[in-house]
Amino acid sequence: MKQILMMAATLLFAVSCGANKDSKALVLYYSQGGTTKAVAEAIQTAIGADIEEIVPVDPYDPDFNATIARGQKEMSEGKFPELQPLKADVRDYDVIFIGYPVWFGTYANPIETLIATVDFSGKKVVPFCTFGSGGLDTSEKALREKLPNATVLPGYGVRAARIAAAPAEVENFLKANDFLAGEYVKPAEFPAPHAVSEEESAIFDTAVGTYPMIRAKAAEVAERDVPGGKEYLFSAEERGGTIKVLVLAEEGKDPVFTQVLR
Ligand SMILES: Cc1cc2nc3c(=O)[nH]c(=O)nc-3n(C[C@H](O)[C@H](O)[C@H](O)COP(=O)(O)O)c2cc1C
Repeated sequence: MKQILMMAATLLFAVSCGANKDSKALVLYYSQGGTTKAVAEAIQTAIGADIEEIVPVDPYDPDFNATIARGQKEMSEGKFPELQPLKADVRDYDVIFIGYPVWFGTYANPIETLIATVDFSGKKVVPFCTFGSGGLDTSEKALREKLPNATVLPGYGVRAARIAAAPAEVENFLKANDFLAGEYVKPAEFPAPHAVSEEESAIFDTAVGTYPMIRAKAAEVAERDVPGGKEYLFSAEERGGTIKVLVLAEEGKDPVFTQVLR
């Protein structure tokens, strides 16, 4: 055990310092099915922030297909849902965590209304999201474009299927970004990728195998050690082009994909 810990210490380094820890934080989130709510509450519990749910005046139907249809219509017409007024005054906060499920590859429609109606100028905005396969990267980029007068910091995202991993990951994320005191584990950078071996290709297939939305074949991979196992960054070819897929292989467990990057 001691040897493993020492090995880990050479591969990973722990850092702690604090610029954001004393700032006043608000967690704003939209969650249709409760998954994003769980992440919002994990953030709130960890840092003791204020928290408020974003509520559309006309709530979305819990039926998946109904929400898909309404969401697509809103997007094509550029008409996004009216929201109940926020109780919190964003001007009272330095940092606003904005949480949402990923819809159609970006933040869910109620967030479009939020950022159009609330002034986030001069604020630090920290996105967080949950998704079936991915969308942190794309939604974060979209928020950065839509909020040029705010500082949109790197966000946190988790697959709904891995929500159980969120509290520990959120804590590490908050420490890594200076919102919480304490040591955290920072993995080494990924090295340059290499062509996949048969074994690595099989790891990819196992990780994405049960997910119907990914039909891709691994081409290249880079790997690094993380606490308790290995993380792989695959480049894979699918009909629409190349996707990147992060895969976590924890010792004694089947590999799972944690995020698709497009
Ligand atoms: C209308 C709609 C569109 C969605 N689009 C995507 C998508 O593009 N990519 C994805 O990975 N997941 C997508 N999802 C899955 C949700 O992001 C995922 O289930 C999320 O965890 C739900 O969070 P919630 O329970 O907080 O509402 C979509 C779900 C809905 C209802």
